[in-house]
Amino acid sequence: MCEERLKYDNKFILAPMVRMGTLPMRLLCLDYGADIVYTEELIDWKLMRSFRRYNDVLKTVDFLDKSDGTVVFRTCAKEKDRVVLQMGTCDAGRALQVAKLVENDVAGIDINMGCPKEFSVKGGMGAALLTKPEKAKEILSTLVQNSKIPITCKIRVFDNEENTIKLVKDFVSTGISAIGVHGRTKYERPMHANRNSTIKKIAESINIPVISNGGSREILKYEDLEKFRKDTGSSSVMIARVAQANCSIFCKDGMKDLEDVIKAYLKYSIDYDNSPSNTKYCVQNMLKELQVTPRGKKFLECQTMEQICTIWEMGEYCRQKQLEFQSKGILGRREITP
Ligand code: FNR
Repeated sequence: MCEERLKYDNKFILAPMVRMGTLPMRLLCLDYGADIVYTEELIDWKLMRSFRRYNDVLKTVDFLDKSDGTVVFRTCAKEKDRVVLQMGTCDAGRALQVAKLVENDVAGIDINMGCPKEFSVKGGMGAALLTKPEKAKEILSTLVQNSKIPITCKIRVFDNEENTIKLVKDFVSTGISAIGVHGRTKYERPMHANRNSTIKKIAESINIPVISNGGSREILKYEDLEKFRKDTGSSSVMIARVAQANCSIFCKDGMKDLEDVIKAYLKYSIDYDNSPSNTKYCVQNMLKELQVTPRGKKFLECQTMEQICTIWEMGEYCRQKQLEFQSKGILGRREITP
């Protein structure tokens, strides 16, 4: 039976976030009402160095590093029709190899063209692609023509609106299914205002869904997602930082208490044997200033998953699950690496 292709219009979306966007966070966002969830950016060669394996204990599809067996990307059936894998790449051939490796397990592939970090830009990836439109187009059209799932890209804007629109139209001509637009230039930081009016002009100029991004400072509750969509004239909205702090922002009926969100997050982390280091990082980003409270300090000292879970009265559940996984031959890393 032919599966339905993911559509990008009229959606609220979890943005790609390195380290935050692993499986437990994505599943929780879907539970709370997100329509689509992006993975953290995964670099092409890391995926090329991995092999696919179905994990019949966790019921997940794992892409494991060939040399050390670490999980590069873990996904599962629950998110299959709504997860978009974001790739960091600067090479059409490599990008296609990765697309072929993952296209049966994810709903879409996005190319990161907005990351301003040195690691990305020096490697010709992320925002570097905005200044190499021919290379960027080659990557997009290669994927569009040879992959069976929808292809998108996520960009930043230029200072000059006309140049931005010209570039966007160029990208649209490759046949991509939607375009994510973060309304800041690669030199601008979160404290700079998001260029909502530029996103609006882009949306008026093209006929594929625009996914607006960069609004976390002005999005404090669910209704603000709708307002941001209107202000940017876009079809869909993608959020990062506000979801990082409390991902129940996706709940139509109002945000949940952070304690409940953390517990629900820990449950998924335990059930999917998420790495303790990653779990700690994500909880830390939810706690934010609460890290200085006595409980927060106790959390920071935690060295194992069980210790973290004990703070939220889930220590015994964690211990039992870990014993179960060990008895079934799963030997995930138990210690937190600095
Ligand atoms: C990001 N961002 C990001 N963008 C991207 O395309 N790929 C990525 O892997 C990441 N990683 C990442 C990690 C973290 C911790 C943050 C806070 C951000 C950028 C992000 O997707 C988004 O474009 C910006 O944060 C602006 O959106 P918000 O935060 O205003 O909703």
